[in-house]
Amino acid sequence: MKQPKVVFVCQECGAQSPKWMGKCVECGAWNSFVEERAAADVAPGAAANNRYTQFSTSSTAKLYAEVETANAVRLSSGIGEFDRVLGGGVVPGSLVLLGGEPGIGKSTLLLQAAAHFAANVGPVLYASGEESEHQIKSRGDRLGVGAAPLYLLSETCIERILEEIARLKPALVVIDSVQTVFSIKFQSAPGSIGQVREAATQFLFAAKGQNIPTVLVGHVTKDGNLAGPKALEHVVDTVLYFEGERHHSHRVIRAIKNRFGAVSELGVFEMTGSGLRPVANPSRLFLSERASGTPGSAVLCCVEGSRPILVEVQALVSTSTYGNARRMAIGIDQNRLSLLLAVLEKRAGLSLAGDDVYVNIAGGMNIEEPAADLSVVAAVASSVRNRGLSPSTAVFGEVGLSGEIRGIPQAPLRIREAVQMGFSRVVLPAANVQRASTDTLGEQQECELIGVRTVGEALDTLI
Ligand code: TYD
Ligand code: MG
Repeated sequence: MKQPKVVFVCQECGAQSPKWMGKCVECGAWNSFVEERAAADVAPGAAANNRYTQFSTSSTAKLYAEVETANAVRLSSGIGEFDRVLGGGVVPGSLVLLGGEPGIGKSTLLLQAAAHFAANVGPVLYASGEESEHQIKSRGDRLGVGAAPLYLLSETCIERILEEIARLKPALVVIDSVQTVFSIKFQSAPGSIGQVREAATQFLFAAKGQNIPTVLVGHVTKDGNLAGPKALEHVVDTVLYFEGERHHSHRVIRAIKNRFGAVSELGVFEMTGSGLRPVANPSRLFLSERASGTPGSAVLCCVEGSRPILVEVQALVSTSTYGNARRMAIGIDQNRLSLLLAVLEKRAGLSLAGDDVYVNIAGGMNIEEPAADLSVVAAVASSVRNRGLSPSTAVFGEVGLSGEIRGIPQAPLRIREAVQMGFSRVVLPAANVQRASTDTLGEQQECELIGVRTVGEALDTLI
């Protein structure tokens, strides 16, 4: 009898090997190989029999000019903030991956979106491998899900789910989660990379073939990656990521990849007793608990995707008691903080060698853009000098290694948001002031713009 073919697959990157290895030669992960049995029908065969051929849409090349532009219709999920991260709504036939830590609210959000969708667009199939129909229903009751053509299916077999999709022809499919479903073609356990990839491929065929938008829920690993499947991120059209602290009530959804919209677009929600509530004005939420005028606090105007948000940057500098000074950053990159502290020491004459420095973005936001530099520098210097910044001042700007303040993109957008939130003074890179004054800022006379060139100049102006 022919032995079934066995392969070892790296659960991190999907690399295959005929024998077990301790370390993956592709991605360098240790102890990541798991035995999987290759399916009979994935052996190379005649192209006509290969199930992947159904995926190609045209067999002959077409002239660019002859291809018709398909105006992508967008279907609203009924939740404004969710539509925003998707780039303006759900695109028919798109495959979306929604990742996040356990308990952050993925199932809650999708059940709410599914209910809205069912009420306004058409029937929805919500397949869950994690909860029974009763559990989903009792959650739905809490969320106020009313009578709508919303079908619940507690099932983990991909083939069964696909049968239901073919039978119901829903307008939206939700799979909660991609790590719990399995295909009968593979022997490996649900959640292994072979199964996850198979699930993504099968649902991709279903989504594209029948033009049904499909949302896959994905879990993240301990280190914050979408579990196993780097491969999955390439397959799907859109990757959304749920962020937020479990102990804070607000949640942020970020688009990491989007074939139909702006990347790093942001949606903000608040977790309440009756589900997730969209937050239309995040700046107000993030600044709501600000202790105005206290030393070590600066208001930053950052831009996430196409959206300006004001957040509070907090710093605390205290004398180090254990010889070894600590530097801790929450919400910004630790290395970036070290760099900024070095600039402060060398270019602004602040002595921080014997001090512990803690920096935190209030509200649990994560900020990566360099425009945050100036606000971090200002908050640290304000804590060192024990003098608060004026409560009506907002700052942004990138700090270079020679202590120069560099211009950053989308300054007018940031200034407009600051004005809307009642700030009367904005300290920003001098390069941006020149550009801004010739820009659209004519109508905003009530806001004073102060351009700065160096860190020293900025600190003199601010503190
Ligand atoms: P859930 O959507 O089950 O998370 P995930 O699917 O990402 O694992 O979220 C569950 C959490 O949300 C749980 O800790 C309770 C909380 N929650 C509320 O605070 N209010 C609500 O109305 C609901 C439904 C959940
Ligand atoms: Mg869940």
